[in-house]
Amino acid sequence: MPDHTIIESDKREFDPAEDDFDEFYFPRPEETDFGAIAEQAVSRRGFMQGTAAAGAAAFVMATTAMTPLSALANENRFGFKPIPANTLDTVTVPNGYNWHVVAAWGDPLWSKGAEFDDATKGTGESQETAFGDNTDGMALFVDGGRSILAVNNEYVNNKIFYASGKSAGPDDVRKSKAAHGVTVMEITEADGTWSIVKDSKYNRKITADTPMEITGPARGHELMKTKADPSGTTANGTWNNCGNGRTPWGTYLTCEENFNGYFSSSDANYQRSDELKRYGVNLEDRGYDWASVDERFDISKHPNEPNRFGYIVEIDPMDPTSTPKKRTALGRFKHENAEVALAANGRVVVYLGDDERGEYLYKFVSEGRYVEGGDNDDLLETGKLYAAKFNNSGAGQWLELNPETTGLKSQAEIAIHTRQAASAVKATTMDRPEWVAANPRKAEAYCCLTNNKNRGRKPNAGGDATPVGGPNPRAANNYGQIVRWVPDGGDHLSDTFAWDLYVVAGNPAVHSDANAGSKNVNKDNMFNSPDGLAFDANGMLWIQTDGNYSNAKGFAGMGNNQMLVGDPATGEIHRFMVGPKQCEITGITWSGDRKTLFVGVQHPGERGLGNSHFPGGGDTTPRSAIVAVSRDDGGLIG
Ligand code: FEO
Ligand code: CA
Ligand code: CA
Ligand code: CA
Repeated sequence: MPDHTIIESDKREFDPAEDDFDEFYFPRPEETDFGAIAEQAVSRRGFMQGTAAAGAAAFVMATTAMTPLSALANENRFGFKPIPANTLDTVTVPNGYNWHVVAAWGDPLWSKGAEFDDATKGTGESQETAFGDNTDGMALFVDGGRSILAVNNEYVNNKIFYASGKSAGPDDVRKSKAAHGVTVMEITEADGTWSIVKDSKYNRKITADTPMEITGPARGHELMKTKADPSGTTANGTWNNCGNGRTPWGTYLTCEENFNGYFSSSDANYQRSDELKRYGVNLEDRGYDWASVDERFDISKHPNEPNRFGYIVEIDPMDPTSTPKKRTALGRFKHENAEVALAANGRVVVYLGDDERGEYLYKFVSEGRYVEGGDNDDLLETGKLYAAKFNNSGAGQWLELNPETTGLKSQAEIAIHTRQAASAVKATTMDRPEWVAANPRKAEAYCCLTNNKNRGRKPNAGGDATPVGGPNPRAANNYGQIVRWVPDGGDHLSDTFAWDLYVVAGNPAVHSDANAGSKNVNKDNMFNSPDGLAFDANGMLWIQTDGNYSNAKGFAGMGNNQMLVGDPATGEIHRFMVGPKQCEITGITWSGDRKTLFVGVQHPGERGLGNSHFPGGGDTTPRSAIVAVSRDDGGLIG
C-alpha cells in the first residue's frame, strides 16, 4: 500500500498523545449503537438456509465476545490444527504443512537476466528482466500440464527498493516502472519445490509502459484523449495493481488501485478539477518521481492522463503477444479485486470494491452471456454497473448507474467518474471495501471492509456522510469486518439481496465493548484489518490481513499479519499462517492439482532496511515473495 499517510496513521502503534488513541479507546457511545445493530443482526438470520439455530446464534454480534466456538468446532472442515499468533521474521504454518519460496522481487525470468543484487538492489536493466516488487493478487492457469502464474506487482517502497532510500534519476524511474504491473511466468515443481521456468514462452512483464487498448463506454471519449493518444483509445501501462480476478474463459483481471499517487504537477499553482480531487490526484506524487522522466505524469500538462487509469485490465496470460484491455465498463475507482460469478442465464457478474474510506461497493453485469468454449473475448466490454445500498434492516439493493439515475451526461462519464455517479444515487459509504469472494457452492458473496478510522467522523472525499450503522457498525473502525450478502432468488443477477456480518474483527483480550468483535472472534484467532479473501474448492473462506502488526495495546496478542480460514456455515475461524515481520499477506491461488497453495508475502520489513530479512535471512534485503504451501502427506490443500 503506497499511501504513506495510511501507513503512518493506520499501522503505527497508538501513541497516547494522538487523536487516534482517543478515538480508539473512547468511541463516542451515541455513534456506537452496537446493541441495536446486534438486535437487527439476530432478527434477519432467516435467510441463512440450512444453518442450525446454534450455528446462527454464533454469528450474533455481541458486546462481549469472550465465548469461543468450541461447541461448533469441526476439524474435518479445516484439516489443520490452528496456530498461535507470533512476531517471528518468518512464515509459520500448522504442523503437517511446509512452505518454501517460489519467487521473490528481483528474481530473473530469463537466463539473460542478472540475479538479485543485495548491495545495489538492482538497476533499471536488471528489473526489466525480473519479477516485480510487492507481490499482490495472483492466479494460476494450467495449459497442457504447464503452470502459468499471473501476479500483480503493486508498488515499490523507496526505503527498500533503492539502496539510497529514494528515487534519484532516470534509471531509478526506469527500474520503478519495471517493478510495477503484472508478471506472467511459468513455474514448475521438481522434487517438491516450485520455481520459475526461465525463458519459458509464457514469461512476460507488463509494466507501467506496456501498450493497452481502452475498451467500453469511455473509449474515445473527450476526457480520455491526450497529446500522445488523440483518439482516446490506447493507454500505456498499468500500475498499483492490487487484487485480481480470473474469468471462466481463462483470462486474468488486474485491478488498478492507488493509481493517483504517481501524478504530480510542475506548476505549483495548477488548479485541479473537482474530479481529480475526488480521486486523490494531487500536485505532488508519493515519491515515485515518474514525471521527472515521463511528462505524461505531469497533470498541469496532461490533465486527462489520470482518467486513463483506475480500471480493471483484462490480460490473456497464455499469449505473451496479446494486448491488455482496459475494461472501462467496470468503472473507474481505486479497484481492489474483481470477483467473477456467473448468473443462471450466463451473464457475467463481477463484484468490485473501491478501497478508500467511505467509498463504495460495485457490481457489473455483462450484456452478453458466457458460453463455454464460445467467443467470450469481449464480455466485459458492455454491461450495466451498479453500486450497493445496504439498509439497516438487513436488506439491500444494487442501484444502477446510468445517466437517468446519476445525472451524469453519458455512460462514458459514468465509466470515468464512477465515484461521483455512486454518490449521486446515494449508495452506502463503506469501511474501505477490499477483496470480494463468491462462494462456489452457494449464491453468496463476502467482502472485507478492512477498517475506517473516519467512520462516523468524516465524510468521504466527495463529501458524502459516513454514518455509523448497517454493515459499518463501529465509529472510528480500527479492526474491520467482513460483510456477506445472499442475492434474492439465489442468483447473482438479482437487484436485491439480504446481508449480514460474517465476522466483526476485534480484540476480546483488551475490550469488552464492540471492539471485542463478534462471537466468532476469540483470544486464539483474533486479527485485524481483513483484506485478501478467497474461497477454495471446498467452500472454505481464506482471509488475509493487512493490519496493525504492533502486537501492542489494542492489537496486543494479534502478532504479525496472517491468513485464517473461515467456515461459512458455522462462522468458525482458525489461523493457518503467520507472515514475517511488518509484512502483509496478500494474494492466493492454487496449483492445478490443488496440492499446493500459493500465497503472497508483501512488504516484509516495510518500515525500512533492517526491520526484516525475509526471505533471505542474515543481513539480506527484505523482499516481497510468493511462497508455496503444501501438506507433508501430499494431500489436497483447499
Ligand atoms: Fe492494495 Fe486495498 O489494497
Ligand atoms: Ca498492500
Ligand atoms: Ca489489499
Ligand atoms: Ca489493505
